[in-house]
Amino acid sequence: MQWITVSSYEELSQIAADRITALMKRKPNAVLGLATGSSPIGIYERLRAAFARGELDFSRACSINLDEYLGLAPDHPQSYRFFMQKHLFDHINIPNESTFVPNGCAKDPEAECRAYDALIEERGIDLQILGIGLDGHIGFNEPGDAFLKGTHIIDLHESTIRANARFFESEDEVPHRAITMGIGGIMNAKEILLIANGASKKEILCAALTGPITPAVPASILQLHPNLTVIYSEE
Ligand code: GLP
Repeated sequence: MQWITVSSYEELSQIAADRITALMKRKPNAVLGLATGSSPIGIYERLRAAFARGELDFSRACSINLDEYLGLAPDHPQSYRFFMQKHLFDHINIPNESTFVPNGCAKDPEAECRAYDALIEERGIDLQILGIGLDGHIGFNEPGDAFLKGTHIIDLHESTIRANARFFESEDEVPHRAITMGIGGIMNAKEILLIANGASKKEILCAALTGPITPAVPASILQLHPNLTVIYSEE
């Protein structure tokens, strides 16, 4: 594991964006595992800017997102598909059909999960960006009794609903269920960049990466990944 501590969110975002840029230059048809939440916004800003300067070409790239709220349509402003369009996809030349976010409105969510696993298996993720929830979740893999390998439907924990309420008008609007890539999909990525911004994440980050590996702290499984970089900003 490589652990990088920086003093600002800008630095964190730049280091992560540089990693993605290096990968894209080396492998123009890279498969990027992307995340939502506030942490990766600075990375997407930098990727957009690099594209605008003509330094990056996403025409052969593919993206696979971690998760989506169940019940939110792609055009719902709080859906993760909407987030990705707004912060990245609408500003770069990645073909729409090469961007994948779980469909939160699938008629058969279980079938959607199986199809998502088949997609991950077929494409293979080169680099996965991950944030971390205050309860140690990655994607929406919430603390539980077991690590769930495949893409699955999850009941969000109270603390997650509360934490994510900041993006909604009120807590009542936050969906209580989500569809998330499982631990297997995440761990199969060739490289993982875990980013955590701010002192509030320090405790859970340390618990996850230096404590016991347990499904009670889903991010702790990352200790077993052969190519993990953690970028933590104290800002
Ligand atoms: C959400 C997402 C996670 C993300 C987490 C942390 O719950 N499902 O993928 O890592 O929020 O978000 P933030 O980066 O805003 O702290």
